[in-house]
Amino acid sequence: MAQVLDTQALDTQALDTQALETAEFAAEPGGDFVVAQGWADYTDIDHVIWRRLFERQSRLLPGRACDQYLAGLEGLGVAADGIPDFERLSDILDRATGWRIVAVSGRVPDDVFFTHLAARRFPAIRWIRRPERMDDLQVPDAFHDVFGHLPMLMNPVFADYLAACGRGGLKALALGALPKLARLYWYTVGFGLIRTAEGLRIYGSGIVSSPGESRYCLEDPKPDRILFDLLRVMRTGYRIDAYQDCYFVIDSFEQLFDATRLDFAPYYEVLARLSDIAPGERLAEDALCHA
Ligand code: PHE
Repeated sequence: MAQVLDTQALDTQALDTQALETAEFAAEPGGDFVVAQGWADYTDIDHVIWRRLFERQSRLLPGRACDQYLAGLEGLGVAADGIPDFERLSDILDRATGWRIVAVSGRVPDDVFFTHLAARRFPAIRWIRRPERMDDLQVPDAFHDVFGHLPMLMNPVFADYLAACGRGGLKALALGALPKLARLYWYTVGFGLIRTAEGLRIYGSGIVSSPGESRYCLEDPKPDRILFDLLRVMRTGYRIDAYQDCYFVIDSFEQLFDATRLDFAPYYEVLARLSDIAPGERLAEDALCHA
């Protein structure tokens, strides 16, 4: 695909993104926001975009993504050939961990999102980015959702963790504590790192699907890599417009699951009295981890 930035293409992209963003929350209020994937409607260009993203990213991941992610990617056989059919993928995922994929057309409201997760349904955006915006996409698309999230859902412990996040999200909403839970989700499911005998590895969906950040998070001296601490994570703000200033590192998915098993209601009360920590800020008690 030529990297030609002609204005017409950019305008079309702007419209697309806008349409996507206004579609958010507009469809079917009160419903589950599930749409048909419409696999037959993808164009050749859509599949070519998928293949380019897939090939580029899978070259970067050996030695960077954790073993569980790589095993999941292989187990899903998530076609290098083109955008996969969600039903076919669901059957594989279902056999492994009881999760299925449902197609959505954009971001869905928080309660809808967490209700899906709690029922072991992963809402994946059916739309794929345009060729003019291969790298600087500000919204998730099918590549981010499928390539980023689904391989980890092949892992039984992580699969249970994400379902627990769904239940925890609904509870946090009811308790008015969603921003705290959102930070935990962000710094684990989205941008989590894991420490292994071979070194630091990626499991977070936002990093594993990003060519730039998959290198930056491991190799750049700038960001802090802090050993996971539940309250520390839930106090820490995050950036949605740039690479992260800090990452949190777990030792195992069992550790993550165990650390988040407790009832969060008392934590939310404690957190309400503690100040927030800015993304780049370091605390004396932080255990830093070297890449
Ligand atoms: N244990 C949490 C609660 O009681 C739920 C949760 C589990 C949240 C795992 C996030 C991750 O709210």
